[in-house]
Amino acid sequence: MSSDQKPWSGRFTESTDAFVESFTASVGFDRRLARHDIQGSIAHATMLARIGVLSERELKALVEGLETIRGEIERGEFPWSVELEDVHMNIEARLTERLGEVGKKLHTGRSRNDQVATDLRLYLREEIDRLQGELRRLQRALLDLAEREADTIMPGFTHLQVAQPITFGHHLMAWFEMLARDRARLTDCRRRVNRMPLGAAALAGTSFPLDRHYTAELLGFEAPAANSLDAVADRDFAIEFAACASLVMMHLSRFSEELILWASAPFGFVELPDAFCTGSSIMPQKKNPDLPELVRGKSGRVFGHLLGLLVLMKGQPLAYNKDNQEDKEPLFDTVDTLKDCLRAFADLVPKLQVRREAMYQAARKGYATATDLADYLVRKGVPFRDAHEIVGRAVRLAIDTGRDLAELSLAELRQWCPAIEADVFELLTLEGSVRARAHFGGTAPDRVRDAIRQAREQLGEDSEA
Ligand code: ARG
Repeated sequence: MSSDQKPWSGRFTESTDAFVESFTASVGFDRRLARHDIQGSIAHATMLARIGVLSERELKALVEGLETIRGEIERGEFPWSVELEDVHMNIEARLTERLGEVGKKLHTGRSRNDQVATDLRLYLREEIDRLQGELRRLQRALLDLAEREADTIMPGFTHLQVAQPITFGHHLMAWFEMLARDRARLTDCRRRVNRMPLGAAALAGTSFPLDRHYTAELLGFEAPAANSLDAVADRDFAIEFAACASLVMMHLSRFSEELILWASAPFGFVELPDAFCTGSSIMPQKKNPDLPELVRGKSGRVFGHLLGLLVLMKGQPLAYNKDNQEDKEPLFDTVDTLKDCLRAFADLVPKLQVRREAMYQAARKGYATATDLADYLVRKGVPFRDAHEIVGRAVRLAIDTGRDLAELSLAELRQWCPAIEADVFELLTLEGSVRARAHFGGTAPDRVRDAIRQAREQLGEDSEA
């Protein structure tokens, strides 16, 4: 196509260099916004008719034309052209091709600058709602598993050393909590996504008396953006979303790391379903945890997109600059990656096989009830620091003689503290230890069941909202 066929060709005397044309084009990736572009155009035209800039006949023709084009795109019949640069000009040119003169009226009081910012927000709003659905699905899967494993004892770790016994249900509810914060962050982010740039035109607004509140209402935006310069220049919403997404990915990456450890032979706490693993081409015994490994790996690209978007924006003077075209691929990839990773986890969690006996034995090995013994001594009047010292000696003896703390005799324990009585042994068992942590937020099975109940209520309310 020569320059005189481009929508902006009027002031040009030379046609665009072929390389420059493909270098500057975005239609290869921004065609993903087609549906939202058409939605925005229909709302814009409807508003133009309402303020008398378009006649009702013109509006009807434009809406029908845009809907026909939507159909062409959905059926894969739309003739995308790189010469027409981006999704916006492709659709507009097609509209004019179909409708003639009236197609050229659609762009009245509008610029691609406010158009693209609007499309992107419509797109992201929809994707946030989908992601919230996936997050809830994963949370529900965690709740179901936590319910089944509320009494399952496992070692809790600090420094990856056995620290204190916990219940597996409690551990799963920790994951649940992280996702609850992620959902709250996305809900908050959505409020700022849901502002409408349309009507800002190129940067200064337009001389037509646009009813931006009406257009915003048609598109389900909370309000039009309050400043026309900011409206076309702002990409905070994309950066903010990438930050929310990065936190979700960081959480999924931590879950992944734990699953990978737990599925390894030295732990053996869980078995991943065969359908989610692959084998090795050389070592016949191998079953590799590819899915969590990939999720852990994919967190890297999402964090990269966050940084990429920040750097993209930092040097831009107001208002719109072509740099902004570079916001789309990182944003799209962030959405796609997050959606896939959440889906992977939501599908995997219900199929995890839990090796309760391995968890229990691992908790027994690490003298995990040492703190319980110290707490017991404190209740007998021993200052905590002295109790810590005494229990240290008891652990030493247990290690030297290859026994558990609960296997030491009462006489042995009493050599350091005569106040110790036979009731101590109940506390030194793993069951006694977790049962004792019965305050709000603690690992006791009954508390875990309370937490699950509350979480279910919250989740139910959130999906209705
Ligand atoms: N393809 C452009 C983008 O993605 C659309 C806006 C172009 N505006 C302009 N004045 N060149 O940002």
